[in-house]
Amino acid sequence: MILCLCNALSDAQLAEAVAQGARRPRDVYAHCACKAQCGTCARAILSMIRDLGSSGPATQSQAS
Ligand code: FES
Repeated sequence: MILCLCNALSDAQLAEAVAQGARRPRDVYAHCACKAQCGTCARAILSMIRDLGSSGPATQSQAS
């Protein structure tokens, strides 16, 4: 399913970016070699980061 219409990014692409360590929407866009256009997808990407980032194997602590 396409979540970012501007950049034609699928949920699978976004999930892979999160699995590879993306923890902010800008990280996800960078992983996919693009940039935010309209920003409509940012909320969905944040939700995915929270869901996958907190339960996936790539969970990292926020030590800053
Ligand atoms: S839908 Fe993702 S930047 Fe527009």
